[in-house]
Formats: sequence, structure tokens, C-alpha cells
Amino acid sequence: MNIADIPYCVDLKTIPKPEIGTILVSGATGYIGGRLVKELLIRGYHLRLLVRSASPDHAKRWPDSEIVVGDALDYESLENAFKGVKVAYYLIHSLLHGRKNLEEIEVKAAANFRNAAEKNGVERIIYLGALGDDGCDLSTHLQSRNNVAVELVNGKVPVTVLRAAIIIGSGSASFEIIGNLVKNTPVVLLPKWSKTYCQPIGIRDIIKYLVGVLELGETAGKWYDIGGKTKHTYEEMIRMFSYLIGKKKIYINTFVSDYKFFGYIASLLTPVPAPIVMSLFEGIKNEVICKNIDIRKVLDFEPLSYSEAIILALNIESQDMIGTRWSDAYPHSHDLDAKLHELEKPKFISTYSRKSKKTTNSLYQTICKIGGKEGWFHNNWMWRLRGAGDKMIMGVGTSRGRRSNSKLRINDVIGFWRVENLEENKCLLLRAEMKLPGKAWLEFNIKNTDGENQLSVTAYFHPKGLAGNIYWYSFVPFHSIIFKDLLKDIEIRS
Ligand SMILES: NC(=O)c1ccc[n+]([C@@H]2O[C@H](COP(=O)([O-])OP(=O)(O)OC[C@H]3O[C@@H](n4cnc5c(N)ncnc54)[C@H](OP(=O)(O)O)[C@@H]3O)[C@@H](O)[C@H]2O)c1
Repeated sequence: MNIADIPYCVDLKTIPKPEIGTILVSGATGYIGGRLVKELLIRGYHLRLLVRSASPDHAKRWPDSEIVVGDALDYESLENAFKGVKVAYYLIHSLLHGRKNLEEIEVKAAANFRNAAEKNGVERIIYLGALGDDGCDLSTHLQSRNNVAVELVNGKVPVTVLRAAIIIGSGSASFEIIGNLVKNTPVVLLPKWSKTYCQPIGIRDIIKYLVGVLELGETAGKWYDIGGKTKHTYEEMIRMFSYLIGKKKIYINTFVSDYKFFGYIASLLTPVPAPIVMSLFEGIKNEVICKNIDIRKVLDFEPLSYSEAIILALNIESQDMIGTRWSDAYPHSHDLDAKLHELEKPKFISTYSRKSKKTTNSLYQTICKIGGKEGWFHNNWMWRLRGAGDKMIMGVGTSRGRRSNSKLRINDVIGFWRVENLEENKCLLLRAEMKLPGKAWLEFNIKNTDGENQLSVTAYFHPKGLAGNIYWYSFVPFHSIIFKDLLKDIEIRS
């Protein structure tokens, strides 16, 4: 059996209790929520999943669960979600609201959630927050996570609060930041705060704790710090990662401590966009280790060490078996309001096509590999240049890569695109997430007529103001070169 197929809770000593009744999981589309849902379903629980934007992919991914659309910032939309719920997980989060708004928005979401839970007689809320003590000049992100905990417990529903430091697992932002820093630069500049201690935890252990506390009623109303087996400074974590993958580095201690500067540089070297890296780096000045270890009294299993978690994550990554990734929930789904089919008609449309004798399936399979190991098939340098420009101005760039090189699902990220629609052997619709003066999509279609396939690519653009119009007209001359070559290459590789 493949390591990625082994349930995380296989050695958890608690007993599944599906008789608890309906469990609401918020943040189900996120990195942790997605993995928790899989594990709870394996243990036989009846789940209702709160999502902000419905997608045909949800029913496919979680066929035995109820899907309910709601936004924690909109109280009315939550009322319905909580009907008949016994336990609710709070895994709602966004690092992308910006420092100014984050605390206010997160507290509002938590208050709405608590009130809706209370009104509907929910028996327990389980929240995963972040380590870091109030009064220690916490970063905006860590302070906000603590404020959410305080807001949630400020009601009648008992809350179990779990607090963790950085999470190491395939697809986690921290794992990809450290890993790419180590892989992509021979010289590592160490800021002063690289000597701060942290207690990283493996994604497997996070899920075990989240499931374990559900199955132990006595954890209701309690706060627990959860962490991995080992504590390290950030410098040690980088050194250990380099050692594990056999990369020698030159380390230089610097006196610069500006997290924005380091965050920006790190975002250029890693797939994770600048706003997320900066948010995480701001928190590195704060020591995040477990002070309260009461969790060991109730759930006594040996968590993984940092290096064990890294080895497991590398293993799963090399097998192309990543289940969820940090990019799954970025940007907020509500920013994706205007889907292509919802627009009356984008102002600019440009289509190129060619006939092909290759089978529908082989053309489709090739299209679905786009942006992965095989790049953009042709004119890769142009896509990379566009991506580099985007990253320089704090956009997402093309380096975000993909969750899996061989599989694709709706909402997956591919460089600076996100999959908006996917129909087997028919089409792949990508929505642009780079910085643009308008909204853009790229669609691949395969149509079979009289035994011959027609392969086409269409660019859609809905401009914003004059800048949008200028943008479109300045790129139009390149479309013919890029798209014709792209179609030719898809055919050759199919
Ligand atoms: N990842 C880590 O390294 C880490 C470390 C320590 C603690 N934690 C904690 O773990 C929890 C989950 O983190 P994560 O990494 O899984 O986050 P994530 O991948 O960013 O997912 C966040 C989830 O929140 C949902 N969401 C955001 N705003 C919402 C709103 N207004 N209403 C309803 N849903 C909303 C998102 O839904 P959409 O798909 O609609 O955007 C997404 O499903 C957080 O509480 C975080 O503090 C994470």
C-alpha cells in the first residue's frame, strides 16, 4: 500500500463515534479541512461541509456528504448550515485580507459562527488556531488567530481550542517555502529572527489531534497546545532540510530583520505568493512552542519529529500524491464571483484551432498536463517572463506550479491560472489569477466531428478601463504565435 493511502488516524487509540450525529466542517476546501474531511469520512461520520462557492467538483470529491453554501461573514447564510449540527469544526482562515482588515474580519466571522452555532443548539465547536502568547508583541496573523479563539469561547457552546505552530506536510505552505529556499539558492541569508524557536508539527499529527478530540468528549471547553516531537530554530530547520536532500549551502548571518524584505525575496524563490510569505515571516519573531502539554494526558501518541515529517512529505511529493495544497483556498472564492459562463459575453475573444487525427482522450490527457513538469509545451520562456513580471509586482506568478503533475481537479492552481471547469475529453477552462487590468480566461476544447478532432484554444478578456483595452491590444499580436505553436505541440505530444 502507498504511504499516501494509509489513513492518518490508523493508530489513533480513540474509537470512532458516528452516533454523535451531523458534523459541520468549515474550511473544508482549505489545506487542513480537505484532509480532515477525508479522514472523518473514513471513520464513518456524517458530514456537512460549509463552502463559500459551490462547485460540481464537491459532489465528486465528497459524494456522501452534504454541501452547504455559506460565508462566515454573512450571518444569515450560516443559519441554514447549522440546522441539526452537533459538532462544528472552525477551520476558517485567510491570510489575504491584509494586515489592516485581518483582525476585524476574522473576529466578525468567528462571532457569526459562534452565534449561529449557539442558536442551533450545537454541542461543541473545535477550533484549530495558532501558538503564540498574547502580550508578546504577536504578529497580526498570530494575534488574529488568538482573537478568534477568544471570540469563539465567548458563548454558550463549549469549544476545544487546539493551537499549533507551522505545519509540515506535502502541500503545506511552510514545507514549500523552506524546501524551495533550500533548493533554489546556493546562499541562505539568515535574518536575526532565524534563531527563534518553533515546534513544527506534521500534518498527520494535526489531523490525529483534530479527530482525537472529537472522539473524547472530555476535551470540550479545554485549550491545548499541540506540536511535533522536536523544537528547532528556523535556521536549524533550513539546515536540516538541506541535509536531508543533500544540498550544501553557504549561510550568511545578516543584521537585516525586515520581514517584508525577506518575505519578498522568499516569494521570488518559492511558489508561495508574497502576501502569504510576508504574513508568515512576520510571525517568526514570536517563539511558538508548546507550553501546555495537557494534550499528552488525553491523546498519548508519539508525534513525528520535524525531520520525519519532512521525509514523509518529500516521499508523497515525489509520488505525485499530494491531497490538498496551500493554494487550494487562494484567493478567496468570493473573489471568483464572475465565472466565465456568468458574464454576458467578455468584450474580447480570440480563438485558434487545428484539426487533429489523435484520439480525443490522448489530446485531453496532454492538455491536462499543462503547466506541470512539461511546462507550457511551447514558448515556455514567454510564460515564465509573464510570470516573473507578475511576481515582481506581488502577483502569484507562474511558479505556484500545480498540486499534481498528472491529475487535475476543479479549483486546482496551474501557475497563474486556476481550473474553473474541467470536462473529461471535452474541455479545460482556466481563469487568470495574475495581476491584470481585467478578467481573463483560457479555454481548451476538443470537438469530434466525423471521426476527426478539432482542437481549439480561446482567450477571453473582459477589460477594466482604458488600461484593460491597451493591455489586450498590446498582447493580440503575440496570440497567433503563442496559440498556434501551443496547439501544434499539444498534438505532437498526444
Ligand atoms: N496551514 C498551517 O500551516 C497552519 C498552522 C497552524 C494553524 N493553522 C490553522 O488551521 C486552520 C486552517 O488553516 P488552513 O491552512 O487549512 O487554511 P486555508 O488552506 O487557507 O483554508 C482556509 C479555509 O477557510 C475558508 N474561508 C475563508 N474565509 C471564509 C469565510 N468568510 N466563510 C467561510 N469560509 C471561509 C476557505 O474557503 P474558500 O475555499 O472559500 O476560500 C478555506 O476553506 C486555520 O485556523 C489556521 O490558523 C494552520
